Amino acid sequence: MDLAAEAAAGARHGLAAGEAGRPERADWTIDQGWERYTAQEHAVWKTLYERQMKLLPGRACDEFVQGMRALPIGADRIPDFRRLSEVLMRRTGWQVVAVPGLVPDEVFFEHLAHRRFPAGHFIRQPQELDYLQEPDVFHDVFGHVPMLMNPAIADYIQAYGEGGLRAQRLGRLTNLARVYWYTVEFGLLRQREGLRLYGAGIASSYTESVFALDSASPNRLRFDLERVMRTRYRIDDFQESYFVIDDLDQLLELSRIDFAPLYARLDQAPELEPGDVLPGDTVLHRGDGTYHAGRAKGALK
Ligand SMILES: [Fe+2]
Repeated sequence: MDLAAEAAAGARHGLAAGEAGRPERADWTIDQGWERYTAQEHAVWKTLYERQMKLLPGRACDEFVQGMRALPIGADRIPDFRRLSEVLMRRTGWQVVAVPGLVPDEVFFEHLAHRRFPAGHFIRQPQELDYLQEPDVFHDVFGHVPMLMNPAIADYIQAYGEGGLRAQRLGRLTNLARVYWYTVEFGLLRQREGLRLYGAGIASSYTESVFALDSASPNRLRFDLERVMRTRYRIDDFQESYFVIDDLDQLLELSRIDFAPLYARLDQAPELEPGDVLPGDTVLHRGDGTYHAGRAKGALK
């Protein structure tokens, strides 16, 4: 099944990383080796870039579009992380660092806590444009980096890195990872003109950028922190529920909350399935569930 695996695999971090891939440096970074990309690899980027740029007007939020415009990201070449970092550093103090693929959680969080975004240096195969085992340069750069130009997201993701290190010590990574998943990877945002996407897992996926916004199948629910922390998610298919924020500053407010008391409360609250709708939810769209009803149950987190 490769329909939505692009977004799902691209959105994972750390969780599946193995020691086998460990590079020489302790922080798992490598040189991007930009000069070594082949013409075919640049051509894959171009195909993905052009396909997605046609789709995103009217779907991506204003901040994503603004970030993309201000960055040295174009159709013809895989972006050079050094040039991205120069622009990002001036705007929000972030850098993009190259990694060979998934990295262990603590390495990932440590990078984020220091405003370094680890990005896969490789690009998917031309015969597998919509299938991805690990986040590649298209998911990581096209999907994530434009949003890092926004000051609220920049601070929020740094706080997530710090929160990740704490959650790991408290044994609460599962709950925290759901917040990242349903915001940074699969978040929707309500703008004047209607719902827009800001999550990188959607923005970098040809199929999910249509499904998340247009399909009658998934639920679209107002974001609620504790509710999201209880909600499992699909890692190998489109999401059954998307959570909608009113503006990006809402995420910034999350980064100021002490999660420790929340974690304690979660012990009393049952886990929720991805498609559940609760009486207390603010439902923007009640999904009819047709898409997932027709498919075998896939892997959950
Ligand atoms: Fe991602």
